[in-house]
Amino acid sequence: MTLDANTKSALRERLNFYRELGVGPLYRRDASPVRQLLEVTSEEAARVEAAVEAVEQSAFVATADDSVDRAALLQVIADDIGPDCQRCKLAKLGRKQIVFGTGDPHAELMFIGEGPGADEDAQGLPFVGRAGQLLNNMIAAMGLKREQVYIANIVKCRPPGNRTPERDECETCSPFLMRQIGVIRPKVIVALGATAAKNLLSVNDSMASLRGRFYDYSPPGIVDESDEAFQCKLAVTYHPAFLLRDPRQKKEAWKDLQMVMRFLDLPTPQRAPSDEGS
Ligand code: URA
Repeated sequence: MTLDANTKSALRERLNFYRELGVGPLYRRDASPVRQLLEVTSEEAARVEAAVEAVEQSAFVATADDSVDRAALLQVIADDIGPDCQRCKLAKLGRKQIVFGTGDPHAELMFIGEGPGADEDAQGLPFVGRAGQLLNNMIAAMGLKREQVYIANIVKCRPPGNRTPERDECETCSPFLMRQIGVIRPKVIVALGATAAKNLLSVNDSMASLRGRFYDYSPPGIVDESDEAFQCKLAVTYHPAFLLRDPRQKKEAWKDLQMVMRFLDLPTPQRAPSDEGS
């Protein structure tokens, strides 16, 4: 097979799109094979696949360039996932739609939960059910609006019956979440609950031992412009759904959030937020 005109033009369009967004190569060691393919008319399809694979497996550049349109870059990731992703078995286990993530593409603070539940699956947005209401209250208690942070999940499709996402599902979805982190470049990530914490940190400790401190976190495969691993802080706290079941732990979660607020230079009120409405 040869590289047909449609494929070439699609590749060229995609490269131009990146260029228009103001980013250089999005990936560190990739652009040349794709460019070669564009310049050489009759390469074999296997080379296209090799080039695409090289792009997907090479490091993603978390650019600090402020002129970059981060919303558009997030849309590129969403487009790469596609509206009907079939990469893992969750596609066939009743999910209605992909829940990509929502919020400010320039957010300093990012929350990462486990996976969509029924409400999220219905609306296509993360944390919009009861746990989401509590997360909104937690964000408000920090003096922020939901629109000022970015919210995503370890997996983008609802696991059946709200079961914990399985390892292969998390691993399949992870590169897209890592790219989202690379685009947003948060100063702090808050992992909500054990599934998020264990997947992000690749550890298997209890929540009690994971929370209450900062980790230096480098999302795998994400580098900055000087080829150094992109780094941010990561804190672990209780999942809002757990806090709904065991409200006594809210004061511990509030300590975690205050730690994050201090790091982000947000004013920290003396009194804990009231439990009303949460
Ligand atoms: N629980 C999660 O972990 N994520 C959501 O989006 C909703 C509930």
